[in-house]
Amino acid sequence: MAKATLIKIVFITASITFAHGSHASGNIDSGKTKAIACQVCHGEGGKSKNPLYPVLAGQHAKYIVKQLKAFKAGTRKDPIMNGMAAPLTDSDMEDVAAFFESNGNPQ
Ligand code: HEC
Repeated sequence: MAKATLIKIVFITASITFAHGSHASGNIDSGKTKAIACQVCHGEGGKSKNPLYPVLAGQHAKYIVKQLKAFKAGTRKDPIMNGMAAPLTDSDMEDVAAFFESNGNPQ
């Protein structure tokens, strides 16, 4: 599949995933659903096997939220992640961060 097509699919999936917003903050279960699009690149549960994409599994949630905010604000620049972070609300970020911190293994 062409990379551009893959990115388009990911954006569409992300828009659908995030369209409904979120209520709980740092909720692993809602993070699991919201992180479906992320795992296309970052691997199942954030356990990326592709060196192009950082491993997120087991990463501290605080760090993940901080990076997502920086991508959204544009202070950290990456053409893919600036787009991925743009539609995320603060609670979306906290939920996906909680999911990845849990190592992709919700209790
Ligand atoms: C199309 C591929 C792709 C998708 C989809 C994607 N990412 Fe990324 N992500 C990347 C790449 C590439 C980087 C490395 C950017 C860099 O070099 O600065 C990255 C970096 C990150 C980082 C920084 C990691 C670190 O160690 O500093 C976080 C956090 C992150 N992504 C979270 C997410 C989340 C959450 C989602 C879903 C909303 C997501 N990503 C979706 C490709 C992707």
